[in-house]
Amino acid sequence: MAKRALITGINGQDGSYLTEYLLELGYHVGGLVRRSSVAENQTHRINNFIDDIETIYADLLDVSTIEQAIKNFQPDEVYNLAAQSHVRISFDMPAFTASVNAIGALNVFQAIRTSMPSARVYQASSSEMFGDSVDPDGFQRESTPMHPVSPYGCSKLFAYSIARNYRKAYKLYISNGILFNHESPRRGSNFVSAKLVQAAIRIKLNKQSTLVLGNLDSYRDWGHSKDYVRAMHLIVNHTEPSDFVVATGETHSVRDICQMVFEKLDMNYQDYVRQDSKYMRPEELPYLKGDCSRIRSVLGWIPEYNLSMLMDDMIEYYFKLEKAST
Ligand code: NAP
Ligand code: GDD
Repeated sequence: MAKRALITGINGQDGSYLTEYLLELGYHVGGLVRRSSVAENQTHRINNFIDDIETIYADLLDVSTIEQAIKNFQPDEVYNLAAQSHVRISFDMPAFTASVNAIGALNVFQAIRTSMPSARVYQASSSEMFGDSVDPDGFQRESTPMHPVSPYGCSKLFAYSIARNYRKAYKLYISNGILFNHESPRRGSNFVSAKLVQAAIRIKLNKQSTLVLGNLDSYRDWGHSKDYVRAMHLIVNHTEPSDFVVATGETHSVRDICQMVFEKLDMNYQDYVRQDSKYMRPEELPYLKGDCSRIRSVLGWIPEYNLSMLMDDMIEYYFKLEKAST
């Protein structure tokens, strides 16, 4: 019989790629979606396969909807990807971010505990939890202390911790994937990768004259969402629940990415990019570089995309999109 996977945040970047991957593997996939006044906006990432999945109206803030979904769907695997995932916006909406990301995750684990304790659970944890903490060799890994520097990072640290607590206290299979930044053509347009690739293409096509960004000197470890959803599936199918860092092991600044993308389009970013404090954060996480040796050696995970290939994928997507709307 086909395995059954239930995904919270199914219509997000990762949820949509994970669904495609699990469908390829022969899973029956269900996903929670929130009610939206513009329903077609909400499903644009999953429209291509919407007839192959089960969508269920629910909200992480309403525990009864999570319980009902789990009872009805009877999942073998649950992927908790739903979140207010924008770090800068978490400074504007700290209580909402904490409610969804921290209490929402607890609601999922509690519903599993009471309604489906045999299910395996994946919790979408984040490198943002490390904050300003870096090991002496310049990497963050599973054992690196966590000192988050944003409401988002704090909310994710609660979810990560309560996942470990429920795993031990109630013998539940709950694993954390500590994922570093990952992007794709499906990345939300207000994250820096999507914003800068789209703007560079619009500048190239004479549809826009400048690109206004915040901090250009923060470093991130950037991978492709398609590679990272394969890691999620490997983590949930490991012999025992555990926590894994998922990263590329390389770090690049926002400035490096600007330079790379504009150069790929035969332009110099310095002619077009300017900075504005409105995109700066009250506290910035300056540097991320993940050591993914554990997932490579224990689960055999190997990413297929490097940074240049990731940017090519996003450039190709936005070129088609912007050309089509000329
Ligand atoms: P995303 O594109 O922002 O997707 C977030 C999803 O959560 C959306 O489907 C959203 O639905 C849903 N959601 C938000 N609030 C909800 C609520 N109260 N109830 C139910 N659903 C809700 O994020 P992503 O990039 O795919 O990331 C997936 C997960 O991994 C997130 O938890 C994120 O924090 C974490 N993560 C991401 C990265 C990364 O670099 N992408 C790295 C580490 C960890 P709506 O469309 O209705 O808003
Ligand atoms: N969004 C945004 N917009 N970021 C900007 C801008 C801008 O105009 N200008 C500079 N940046 C800088 C940010 O200050 C940050 O240092 C870096 O670009 C990356 O920002 P985001 O793309 O918003 O991602 P993030 O690193 O804050 O958070 C992402 O990665 C986390 C994992 O480390 C999100 O996907 C989180 O959900 C995820 O957990």
